[in-house]
Amino acid sequence: MRATITALGSTTIALLASLSGSAIAAEKLTYYCSAQEDWCQLMANGFEEATGIKVNMTRKSSGETMAQIKAEADNPKGDIWWGGTGDPHLQAAEEGLTEPYESPMRAELHDWAIKQAESGGNATIGIYSGALGYGYNEEVLAANNLPVPACWKDLLKPEYKGHVQMANPNSSGTAYTTLATIVQLFGEEEGFEFMKGLHKNINQYTKSGSAPIKAAARGENTIGIVFMHDAVAQAASGFPIKAVAPCEGTGYEIGAMSIIKGARNPESARKFYDWALQADVQSRSLEVKAFQVMSNKAAESSPLAPDLDSLTLIDYDFAKYGSSDERKRLLKKWDDEVSVLPQ
Ligand code: F6P
Repeated sequence: MRATITALGSTTIALLASLSGSAIAAEKLTYYCSAQEDWCQLMANGFEEATGIKVNMTRKSSGETMAQIKAEADNPKGDIWWGGTGDPHLQAAEEGLTEPYESPMRAELHDWAIKQAESGGNATIGIYSGALGYGYNEEVLAANNLPVPACWKDLLKPEYKGHVQMANPNSSGTAYTTLATIVQLFGEEEGFEFMKGLHKNINQYTKSGSAPIKAAARGENTIGIVFMHDAVAQAASGFPIKAVAPCEGTGYEIGAMSIIKGARNPESARKFYDWALQADVQSRSLEVKAFQVMSNKAAESSPLAPDLDSLTLIDYDFAKYGSSDERKRLLKKWDDEVSVLPQ
């Protein structure tokens, strides 16, 4: 009798423990976000409302988040990384920091999103894309009697000294995309000469990729090298910002999402992943003026969104520039040969 009660007791306790274990696991999500702050927040709130799962969010730029996930690899704290440029997501996949997952939502996505997943051994996936360029404040430009720039090489002109801002490519995915784009457009040698020339005109390297165009919108900067959708977002908010697609052609990003290896809440991470790929969820980007092209073919896009088909885009080599060796090599070269130069 006593043996039966003890056996029953331990079975019940084990059952309760496993139930409460999965209930706890299903209730939390530690979410690292590398897109714009208001979009990150909208996704966190939207997921909480849709599932009741409690979200704990941190927003950092793409390169910073990659560095954080790497630093935490022995004791992962994050579950899902959503947003930010695809290159550091690919690097994380290659370094085994993220977990392969094939979502049932894949059939609804554009080919470029799946191609990105395949390049990363399915440990990442494309969630949006957008072209690189720059934007300028037309009032500040006119007040300084500066010509309207149209090409990458215009930004090297001495009259723009102190008028150009970009982010630091170590922290920012936007700025790394800029560096990789310039190297692919002009070749490595000429590309680095370009970055050195540009350095003379830079007033500040910011941490976040979109900061330079936000500063231009406030009138604290003239030209910001950013994704074109970030410039358009400032114009749509009523600031005197014009977006430029550089005349030589330009690169682009495939913004990505990845599940962190060793996630403490893997089930919540997969739920978020599937949810974030839904058309209606992606269409909500318009509520926060996020004008990227979404990866779900049925997601809505704004007429204000830059039309990637009408731009001269380079055939950006994501496999190469998202590889761990190449990203580290280019960043080190930029640190050693460009950032240290006097201005
Ligand atoms: O959300 C705006 C955005 O420009 C995204 O398109 C991009 O993936 C991300 O920010 C890059 O941010 P950062 O340059 O700060 O890494």
